[in-house]
Amino acid sequence: MAWLHYFSLINLIFCVCASGQSLRQTVASRPFRIGTAVDVSRLGDLTYRNLIRNEFNQVQPENELKWMVLRPSAATYTFTKFDSLVDFATANGMSLRGHVLIGESGYPSWLTTGNFSQAQLREILRQHISTVVGRYSGRIYAWDVVNEAFDGAGQLKATQWLSHPGIGGAGTQYIETAFRMAHEADPNALLFYNDTNAETLNAQSDAIYRMALDFKQRGVPIHGIGLQMHLDLNGIDIRSLEQNIARFAALGLQVQITELDVRLPVPVGAAPTLSQLSLQADIYAIVAQSCLRSPACTAVQTWGVTDRYSWIPDFFPGTSAALPFDSNYAAKPAYYSLRRALEPSAQLLMRGALRDNASFAVAPISAGQILVLFVNTQATGSSASTPISGFYPTRWQGVEVHFDGIPAPILAVHRDCVVMAAPYGIESKASVPAVVRVNGQASNVVEVEIRAASPGLFTAAGNGTGTVLAHSSDGRLIDRSNPARAGDLVTLYGTGIGRLPGSSAAAVASSPAPQAQFPVSATILGSSAEVQWAGALSGAIVGTSKIVIRVPASLPGGEHPLQLRIGSVSSQAGVTLPVR
Ligand code: G3I
Repeated sequence: MAWLHYFSLINLIFCVCASGQSLRQTVASRPFRIGTAVDVSRLGDLTYRNLIRNEFNQVQPENELKWMVLRPSAATYTFTKFDSLVDFATANGMSLRGHVLIGESGYPSWLTTGNFSQAQLREILRQHISTVVGRYSGRIYAWDVVNEAFDGAGQLKATQWLSHPGIGGAGTQYIETAFRMAHEADPNALLFYNDTNAETLNAQSDAIYRMALDFKQRGVPIHGIGLQMHLDLNGIDIRSLEQNIARFAALGLQVQITELDVRLPVPVGAAPTLSQLSLQADIYAIVAQSCLRSPACTAVQTWGVTDRYSWIPDFFPGTSAALPFDSNYAAKPAYYSLRRALEPSAQLLMRGALRDNASFAVAPISAGQILVLFVNTQATGSSASTPISGFYPTRWQGVEVHFDGIPAPILAVHRDCVVMAAPYGIESKASVPAVVRVNGQASNVVEVEIRAASPGLFTAAGNGTGTVLAHSSDGRLIDRSNPARAGDLVTLYGTGIGRLPGSSAAAVASSPAPQAQFPVSATILGSSAEVQWAGALSGAIVGTSKIVIRVPASLPGGEHPLQLRIGSVSSQAGVTLPVR
């Protein structure tokens, strides 16, 4: 399942729990850096300055180490602007990251139009790196040595260093040369390759990986990969990000998130909606959590602090508001969720993390419904719970989930999710707070909407879509090779048909099983199918439903859409029944 689905709208409302600590206080006990890029020209703005000082333990200049600013002429270095950031960082106990020695742009015209020979260009680069890295040796702990060298197809971009006229050598050799020069200038600095759009597994990150592998194998001094992380509300495929981080970590490299921002589709000055801010908050949090999940990921850095000073509106017209603080320096939901994500062993519940276990739909839930909650359970494997005296436990593998303080019976705990039944007792509420505890550590609280019934159907593939999980009256599994017969009875399996009278949500359903209290109807290919019986499945937890329907006699053959309905609520679309 694409983890982007985490972001689908909007049944769980992200709730912020203020801890009162700043971001840097939150990570203070750990060797982890929470950084920001600084627009040094704005450091005279005291509110800006104080925010940075209070919130971050790492800074990086947004532009002041680029050739364009640092090298007005071949003979001149203008260190004063960046030096003011060095002073600021030193006075406030912050780490300094250097950005950048070979960038994708930001070069002065004396360099780009100088018609230098290869040898001259190589010497200019050597002098530049030696002077700049040497000057800040011992003060800048990590450098983006080369930035954005690859395109989306994994090809090296044409640059003056590679090919116009280049500094000599083919392929990644110019990058290697820059890393070797930087290492010579400061043997203790950590040297990073930094790129955009290479956060997940793709042709570009594959090319970077091949280069990093080659460098490691040949002893080229490379120590880390910077993943920029300029995102929008489409978020990011978290699994792919984590796999990407893992493969660089396996090479012995650090990974740092270097330029995190999440732009919103609103023009400057327009107010984002609550839903946009909330989605943005989730994305900040999951990026931070993905980083924290890998010991190799040692920093999360935002590309700015306040929406007042951000590169986004200039570069992506019609978008803005990408940073954790708004243009009046007020903390946005993204700030709070980022902070929550940085807390030690935070169990972070995202909007959309709670789903029907049959349909995987994010929707209001009902008492007894079998649910899956995506959360880091810290479990090493998967473990199904066992009922004791006919009742499922409400704590398993150190995991508990409470809805409005009522513990949910737990069916299984996996590494990244918990399967449970919604407890009885919530059905009279419009919404309830939900919280997960892992080994006693509570997550943030999310508000979950409740309704009387919320039907979902299990499918044969177990992913909530395609052929329904069903048996024909002879007990055989229905599939395309054994389609249902028109006029026959078929048994379907689902959940979310509401509280069953006279039972407990944790109970294993007896035989005869309790019956649904709400009328259930069914349609196949739009035609109504008689529901003969609906209730619990004997031997399973009561929230697992069995629904027996009769396939309309007049139905033609084919794979037909099938839906249940309780009141005004239908089971998920996209489920089919093969009929002969
Ligand atoms: O300082 C001049 C100012 O004097 C002039 O009046 C004005 C007119 O446009 O331009 C100002 O320079 C701008 C500079 O930012 C400072 O604001 C440049 O035009 C503008 O191109 C430059 O943009 C920077 C961009 O890199 C290009 O270097 C952005 O601020 C900066 O956020 C961005 O940062 C990059 C990272 O280095 C690499 N990763 C992507 C990231 C975002 O693009």
